[in-house]
Amino acid sequence: AKITFITTNNDVMEVEGSSGSVMELAVENNVPGIYGDCGGVCSCATCHVHVAPDDMAKVGEQGEIEKDLLDMNDCATEYSRLSCQIEVSDAIDGITLTVAEY
Ligand code: FES
Repeated sequence: AKITFITTNNDVMEVEGSSGSVMELAVENNVPGIYGDCGGVCSCATCHVHVAPDDMAKVGEQGEIEKDLLDMNDCATEYSRLSCQIEVSDAIDGITLTVAEY
């Protein structure tokens, strides 16, 4: 799947992958602002992204634990996801994610 990241500096980065989580893919490709400090277990929120509204249907809603974590985050919106909780697959090909402040 091809994923476009818009960084906090408004740089556009296109990355491609076929497995693992979106957070892992971002870290591998040095996407600035995605750190994955907790290793992808949904407890740090350093992998926070805003999904383009049109892509929300592809990506899906926040999970329960993810929602609790995002509820405490001032930058979170209804389009927020923790990218470690998004699996890379063909289903999300072409999505655009904006890296969030955290
Ligand atoms: Fe920690 Fe996603 S990597 S919550």
